[in-house]
Amino acid sequence: MGHVDTGATAVISDDTRRLVARLAAADWVVAFTGAGVSAESGVPTFRGTDGIWKKFKPEELASMDAFMRNPSLVWEWYAHRKRVIAGIQPNPGHYALVRMEEVFPRFALITQNIDNLHRRAGSRSVHELHGNIERNYCVSCGKPYGNEELLRQSETPKCPACGGWIRPDVVWFGELLPEDQWNASVRAAESADVFLSIGTSNVVYPAASLPLLAKRRGAFLAEINAEVTPLTDTADVFLQGSSGVILPDLVASVVAARESAERQGTPTHT
Ligand code: APR
Repeated sequence: MGHVDTGATAVISDDTRRLVARLAAADWVVAFTGAGVSAESGVPTFRGTDGIWKKFKPEELASMDAFMRNPSLVWEWYAHRKRVIAGIQPNPGHYALVRMEEVFPRFALITQNIDNLHRRAGSRSVHELHGNIERNYCVSCGKPYGNEELLRQSETPKCPACGGWIRPDVVWFGELLPEDQWNASVRAAESADVFLSIGTSNVVYPAASLPLLAKRRGAFLAEINAEVTPLTDTADVFLQGSSGVILPDLVASVVAARESAERQGTPTHT
């Protein structure tokens, strides 16, 4: 974290210093994100104080049974979230992760978020474990649909091709994760030099098994989160705070460390 303009020097924690040193020498970096990364953009988290699951029952809104029981209720709820998210912008935490993709020779971003804010910020190598709220498909024939045409409709949308109900392309409770996204995420976790767990409560599986897999495979495991989680004791370092503040500073420090290493001719990665 650079010097602040007020002449005061920012206090750098040991954990931050260790993480910067590891990232400065890293070749393969993986970031694993949850709702906390989008909190500063105004997207509600799931289990935080005003978390979604504090207000709504997941079994009534985020399962295939709930959808088949009451398609209109579930669709309306997702249509509301689609409209809210469409009006929201990525925050400095999202942009810092875009920068990381430029800095590290190999980088992957694994997200549990369905809000598409990583892609909207410019991230390219994104593995979406829980789907994407900007996509939809027919439950009968699988035909894909975008949001625009569906959100114009007043009725709960049905597939013009076969008459089936159209649902958001997100993973509901009790459903399998998309195989290609999961396999790519496992490969990334197994190869990482540094694995960053950012803004997630690490309680939802199988996603929460990825940081543990990376650690078992020798990665340096760092957690960046507003609160401690079940992962904190396993992590090598824990940076407590807001990802929208911590990540931009972290990237700036890593870039400075890699540049000075290059100037001294020290190889920046093994
Ligand atoms: N910066 C960093 N961390 C934050 C911030 C922030 N600005 N705001 C909140 N957090 C932390 C909270 O302390 C909490 O530990 O982010 C975490 C968010 O946890 P959850 O609300 O449980 O969200 P997430 O971990 O993404 O949930 C996983 O559960 O409901 C399902 O499918 C849904 O993908 C979701 C999955």
